[in-house]
Amino acid sequence: MNDLPDDLLTPEAVADPDGAAAVLRDADPVHWSPTHRAWLVTRYDDVVASFRNPALSSDRVRPLMSAQRERPAAEHRVLGLISEWMVVTDPPAHTRLRRLAGAAFKQQQIAAMEQRIQTLVDELVDAFLAGGPRGDLVAGVAYPLPAIVIAEMLGAPPVDRDRFRAWSDELALVAFGAGGDARPDRHERALRGLEEMAAYFRALVAERRAAPAGDMLSAMIAGDTPSGGVEEHGLTDDELVGMCALLLFAGHETTTNSIANAVRLLTADPALRDRVRDDPALVGPAVEESLRLAGPIKVLVRWVVGDHELRGRRIRAGERVYLLLCGANRDPERFADPDVVDLARERATHVAFGRGIHACIGAQLARLETRIAVGTLLRRLPGLRVDGDPAWLPTLASRAQESLPVVHEGAGAGSAP
Ligand code: HEM
Repeated sequence: MNDLPDDLLTPEAVADPDGAAAVLRDADPVHWSPTHRAWLVTRYDDVVASFRNPALSSDRVRPLMSAQRERPAAEHRVLGLISEWMVVTDPPAHTRLRRLAGAAFKQQQIAAMEQRIQTLVDELVDAFLAGGPRGDLVAGVAYPLPAIVIAEMLGAPPVDRDRFRAWSDELALVAFGAGGDARPDRHERALRGLEEMAAYFRALVAERRAAPAGDMLSAMIAGDTPSGGVEEHGLTDDELVGMCALLLFAGHETTTNSIANAVRLLTADPALRDRVRDDPALVGPAVEESLRLAGPIKVLVRWVVGDHELRGRRIRAGERVYLLLCGANRDPERFADPDVVDLARERATHVAFGRGIHACIGAQLARLETRIAVGTLLRRLPGLRVDGDPAWLPTLASRAQESLPVVHEGAGAGSAP
């Protein structure tokens, strides 16, 4: 089956990952890709089952380091730092990190942040409108918002916002696996960014250890658990620094793309756009459909640690499995008319945020940010439409547009709903 679109980094597959996934799903739903040297899993049921399969490990950075020792030193050091993140660990290490981060997240009472996020979005939209009837919505709104939100939640002073944005950017060059050698210096840049960021967070950790505040970093330092107790082995300074970097990174580009992809999808059909604009109750369902149809993460990687079978295929320890969320989220066996935006669809059964022990810890926050940003943009930028075809970034994992040029008729519109 060599004629299948099993190289996910071709320009065609980058432009239309859903099309490639559909062909694979129909022809060979558990397909060995010689290009990626990985199994491509595209059916909803198989992806969901894989999330719960202990034979699939998330410890996917460490094997990469030992398998390819000839990588440049800078790349090794970046991977070494990333390899401690909970998203790339298995139990029991993962269980402890997740418990501590989960408790800190819970204390932040995400729903109560609605007003603050609305204020931030309104400020960004004000500035965007001041630029006239055309502009780039990624640079103006979708990109800055999540970095500001997470920086505030962690407890970083607002003056440092721009540094957060830059660090997250450098890191994305590595963690999202940019295709080819388009950016040969990416590891050096990522390393520089990471080292600066680590020094920054280390200083903030020291400040909060000395004088706790009401922020997430202080909550993680306190080591509270969701059950109300205190974790016996609290986070070390290194772990706290790593956790801050992970939260910044995991929540930044994903949320940027969630906002940008939703705007692209919803404005492609003016009738749909106007329907959602005129009925605030539809913004939530519209965002869920956008996460399903144009989710920020296309592919998640797992490392096989135990032989097993999937749809008659023998999957062996030492191999890799790519879970194609973009395939699962449009599987006709799970979703009727899978390619259609259906605002009455049963909610939240998509896998845009993953499943199982690693399911996105920031999903509630990401949904809130996306809903407020999209609802506000539709309301305040009448006639909003995208200007031109998307330039998708050639990455394996993320569905990311470098920019989102738009046209609107909203200059001068006020911020009131
Ligand atoms: C729409 C935006 C977002 C999407 C689509 C998304 C998606 C995901 C997915 C698919 C995973 C599972 C990874 C895996 O199984 O390997 C995940 C995990 C994670 N996400 Fe998100 N995410 C988003 C926003 C956020 C935000 C805002 C934060 C935090 C501020 C965040 C923090 C995390 C963390 C820390 C993990 C690792 C959890 C663990 O390993 O237990 N994410 N995310």
